[in-house]
Amino acid sequence: MRTLKFKIFRFNPRIDKKATFDNYEIEESDSMTLFIALNKIRETLSKDLSYDFVCRAGICGSCGMMVNGKPQLACKTLTGAYENGEITLAPMPTFEIIKDLSVNTGKWMNGMSKKVESWVHTNEKTDISRLEKRVSQDVSNEVFELDRCIECGICLASCGTKIMRDDFIGAVGLNRVTRFHTDPHDERSLEDYYELVGDDNGIFGCMSLMGCEDNCPKNLPLQTKIAYMRRKLVSV
Ligand code: SF4
Ligand code: FES
Repeated sequence: MRTLKFKIFRFNPRIDKKATFDNYEIEESDSMTLFIALNKIRETLSKDLSYDFVCRAGICGSCGMMVNGKPQLACKTLTGAYENGEITLAPMPTFEIIKDLSVNTGKWMNGMSKKVESWVHTNEKTDISRLEKRVSQDVSNEVFELDRCIECGICLASCGTKIMRDDFIGAVGLNRVTRFHTDPHDERSLEDYYELVGDDNGIFGCMSLMGCEDNCPKNLPLQTKIAYMRRKLVSV
């Protein structure tokens, strides 16, 4: 067993004038994740420390934070990965800070979903007595693959364009556009998608720095899909 040394960003925007990094030391346990470590810190050292977790299994997307400068899911991060036992935690940049390590990814994702009109657009009337429209296995696999996004926001916290340009919809938004373009149930044309994302805050803003794909915890093929959509939309 060893002692872990944490530096944790502390800031309550409703009260504090400036942020601090506070130091905490705890004993490491077997197979400890950052989720377990943060719970231990909150239980034993700092009862008002704020951070977000729901599923603890890499599914809900709520626990993204900067771990020694890199955005990742805290519930899937083992403390054992840090050889010297020194871990600095900070909130993900580009999102509104709620308190300490907690940021408002939900508000941002909601705005992005409205901006890219994240729902199937069709003129077909709903008829529940009819069989579903069939889709080939390959196409449905591709749609399901892109639907694996958990909206954690890590791609945005990894993105140079997003840090410079607040309205950029990022890899998560462009992934969503590609998902609907791939889905034959959605009848939108390339011109329709161009209207939504055919500018520097959309498909032409990406600088291909690859941070999104390098850090995405779901290993989504973000850069391939962004390049694919960019090629499609540049010809509109
Ligand atoms: S694309 Fe990947 S990194 Fe971005 S929000 Fe979805 S799961 Fe998270
Ligand atoms: S707590 Fe759900 S992804 Fe980490």
